[in-house]
Amino acid sequence: MESLIKFSGTVVITGTSSGIGRGLCKSFIERGYNVFGTVRNKKDVLELEKEFGQNFNALIMDVTNEKQVLNAKEKVKNYLGNKTLSALINNAGIATLGPVEYLPTSDFKKQLDTKILGTFLCTKIFLPLLGTDHSLLGEPGRIVNISSILGGKIGSPFMSSYCASKHAVEAFSESLRRELKPFGIKVIIVAPGSISTPIWQTVKKQKEQDKFGKTKYSVPFKRILNSLEQFDQNSLPMEKLANVIIKSIETKNPKIRYNPTKDYSQKIWPYIPKRIMDNFF
Ligand SMILES: NC(=O)c1ccc[n+]([C@@H]2O[C@H](COP(=O)([O-])OP(=O)(O)OC[C@H]3O[C@@H](n4cnc5c(N)ncnc54)[C@H](OP(=O)(O)O)[C@@H]3O)[C@@H](O)[C@H]2O)c1
Repeated sequence: MESLIKFSGTVVITGTSSGIGRGLCKSFIERGYNVFGTVRNKKDVLELEKEFGQNFNALIMDVTNEKQVLNAKEKVKNYLGNKTLSALINNAGIATLGPVEYLPTSDFKKQLDTKILGTFLCTKIFLPLLGTDHSLLGEPGRIVNISSILGGKIGSPFMSSYCASKHAVEAFSESLRRELKPFGIKVIIVAPGSISTPIWQTVKKQKEQDKFGKTKYSVPFKRILNSLEQFDQNSLPMEKLANVIIKSIETKNPKIRYNPTKDYSQKIWPYIPKRIMDNFF
């Protein structure tokens, strides 16, 4: 990793039971950070404490539960004393797939609640610790919102809920970035391409269950599932993503949006005229 302004301290990462969140815990702890990671059950707490040792602190909370997020914030506040939190990484997320006509309303709601309501609640509640509370000492903290290289910028068929939630995260981040400028709290979007994590099991499950197999969307839906499987096979190693996120927190002037991906063609997809993309899909 290039030489960076050392900014080590304490970070809060949501959704650390698996995938990207768990990989980030490892990399941040190796770099000397103290990590508060959110999980939803005791089993994960024990597992992560065993894996990461004393620099890992579990916060048991669901990102959509305001009371639980408030309790978690109190725990972090007590730990920090009069110091600011270095960063909040809004990572927790799910992937819901399916044709709008048959998508259960509860699935759509869960997708948006997890990603955008969760990002809103965690941001709102942790903001004083990141430096809007001027009585705290230390540099203002940073907020990293995890979007998706494609889902955050273009709408893919049968991924309406996922793409809507990621577009919302991007818009939310832009408003927030401007709103928090006077406080020196930088808001960064990290929009990865594919990273091999359990989230991709969703695609496998959809194929096995063939939930929409008897609908008129069966054939194009399967085609999308197949192409998603190919994305998963071309994943960026987790350590590379972690390096980008650590850099975004430590560098003096971070970019507004990072798109770490193994497939460089994905970087230009958002700039292709919409009508051409319509035909491509
Ligand atoms: N993997 C990729 O290729 C990729 C690409 C672009 C963007 N992303 C984004 O990266 C983020 C992490 O995904 P991942 O690939 O690491 O998936 P993952 O392995 O399935 O991890 C998702 C994490 O989010 C947690 N979570 C889900 N709902 C939650 C809730 N309501 N409250 C608290 N935690 C909750 C899960 O906890 P439980 O174990 O308790 O369910 C889990 O720890 C997501 O926002 C995803 O959209 C992933």
